[in-house]
Amino acid sequence: MGLLLSLYFLFFFLSVSSGEISNFVGVNYGLLGNNLPSPKQSVKLVQSLGAKRVKIYDANPDILNAFKDTNIQVSVMVPNELIINISNSQKLADSWIESNVVPFYSKTKIRHLLVGNEVISSSPKEIWPRIVPAIRKIRSSLRTHNLNKIKVSTSMAMDMLESSFPPSNGTFRSDIADPIVKPLLQFLNRTKSFYFLDVYPYFPWVADPKSINLDYALFESRNITYTDPVSSLTYTNLFDQMVDSVVFAMKILGYPDVRIFIAETGWPNAGDIDQIGANIYNAATYNRNVVKKLTAKPAIGTPARPGWVVPSFIFALYNENQKPGPGTERHFGLLYPNGSYVYGIDLSGKAPASDFEPLPKPDNNEPYKGKIWCMAAGGANATALSSALSYACSQGNKTCDPIQPGKPCFKPDSLFWHASYAFSSYWSQFRKAGGSCYFNGLATQTAKDPSFGHCKFPSVTL
Ligand SMILES: *[C@@H]1O[C@H](CO)[C@@H](O)[C@H](O)[C@H]1NC(C)=O
Ligand SMILES: *[C@@H]1O[C@H](CO)[C@@H](O)[C@H](O)[C@H]1NC(C)=O
Ligand SMILES: *[C@@H]1O[C@H](CO)[C@@H](O)[C@H](O)[C@H]1NC(C)=O
Ligand SMILES: *[C@@H]1O[C@H](CO)[C@@H](O)[C@H](O)[C@H]1NC(C)=O
Ligand SMILES: *[C@@H]1O[C@H](CO)[C@@H](O)[C@H](O)[C@H]1NC(C)=O
Ligand SMILES: *[C@@H]1O[C@H](CO)[C@@H](O)[C@H](O)[C@H]1NC(C)=O
Ligand SMILES: *[C@@H]1O[C@H](CO)[C@@H](O)[C@H](O)[C@H]1NC(C)=O
Repeated sequence: MGLLLSLYFLFFFLSVSSGEISNFVGVNYGLLGNNLPSPKQSVKLVQSLGAKRVKIYDANPDILNAFKDTNIQVSVMVPNELIINISNSQKLADSWIESNVVPFYSKTKIRHLLVGNEVISSSPKEIWPRIVPAIRKIRSSLRTHNLNKIKVSTSMAMDMLESSFPPSNGTFRSDIADPIVKPLLQFLNRTKSFYFLDVYPYFPWVADPKSINLDYALFESRNITYTDPVSSLTYTNLFDQMVDSVVFAMKILGYPDVRIFIAETGWPNAGDIDQIGANIYNAATYNRNVVKKLTAKPAIGTPARPGWVVPSFIFALYNENQKPGPGTERHFGLLYPNGSYVYGIDLSGKAPASDFEPLPKPDNNEPYKGKIWCMAAGGANATALSSALSYACSQGNKTCDPIQPGKPCFKPDSLFWHASYAFSSYWSQFRKAGGSCYFNGLATQTAKDPSFGHCKFPSVTL
């Protein structure tokens, strides 16, 4: 009896441990910075964060080597640029696996292979229909090498959906639903892989902060709930709403049970003056709350999938100073490039809130009231700055008139000054049409009026 009982438990635990999906929270290890710690130092930092998984955006051999003999699971990526060629050639898929996976497995615990990153959002249309054929070839190569523990998928953003509100109305875009999403879901369902989803409640909130309550986006709402009129499911946060809209969209295509893996989620800890809600307080609040939710035992799931384990990665390990776009893009890190924490966080979900230092109060949850100018950044490369100046001046009709000789902004006659005027002038003219104060990192926003003497700099008011 005793023996039978312990055998029973042994089998029970064996079957649970092999079949169970773990609720660990991992971290995305992006490399778009020129000041980041080495892979070896990064392994230590990932461990200190309590992360049990890491996702990288390529198959960098130094990183794969650095994670050897650790218990951290690794997700690697086939770059978007290789998808078409791999989709056309089993030989190329085989050689990719032979050079990027085989040398590191199994000492490096590679567990997922993502074929492309947000391909539908960021890459030319010709690549879209090649994703699933490339995925199939990659899986076939993995099987040839007996690498059956590695699940294959691709990562997708929320722009795959045509509608996401109410969540029960979630629908994939009609241009991709049948030709791309359906075969993808079929593959994921058949191979028991995951739909890798990038979910950022920050973006819908920023687009409409008047209708969406900030606390609802930060998992902090105590009294605000939303009940979906069709499903009657009640939501207490925006994250669940977004994830469930994908669940409902999958259901419409006939795949209600494909598991979701949060490939990226997070909140920026800083941004530009004209951006709102990007601060340490909100970033810490969002990330701590999402970790608490996703590591809870028993699993919480979402209203449409109560009790489901949702494995995940937070974006990102570091603030990456070379990411293009608005300032928020360079400030999603849990860590500064020097390895210090931006705020206290424990991805294992075990540290009590009292372990963390008090957070600085948020000062930009409302739009900035006042004028903003766009200046050349100190230390900008002169050659690059000079081409950016020409570009800014060539966009409008009179953008740069005041910096011509004899005009009020000609003096001081320096590249820095002229570029600053041109950037401010360009930005004030084109911001509404989508123009940004970025210029490949050569420009920066300021709330301090640079105008001098008779020279008035054009400004932006939000
Ligand atoms: C894809 O294959 C074509 C034809 O062999 C080759 O010219 C091209 O460089 C390859 N693209 C990449 C990204 O390797
Ligand atoms: C549901 O989504 C469709 C687009 O797919 C949209 O036209 C419609 O307004 C949405 N329904 C609601 C109630 O928002
Ligand atoms: C998805 O996979 C499950 C489990 O293997 C299977 O029962 C189901 O028929 C599959 N769904 C579709 C639409 O193929
Ligand atoms: C929810 O509570 C907050 C503060 O506790 C309060 O300011 C807000 O008005 C409440 N909202 C609703 C919809 O009751
Ligand atoms: C790391 O960088 C941050 C941001 O620049 C700075 O505030 C912090 O003091 C630095 N920490 C160390 C140990 O240098
Ligand atoms: C400055 O920018 C130019 C053109 O953008 C580039 O070719 C050059 O390498 C840069 N110089 C430095 C020192 O970064
Ligand atoms: C430049 O001026 C012309 C004529 O006044 C006008 O049609 C055109 O739209 C202007 N272009 C820009 C970019 O402002």
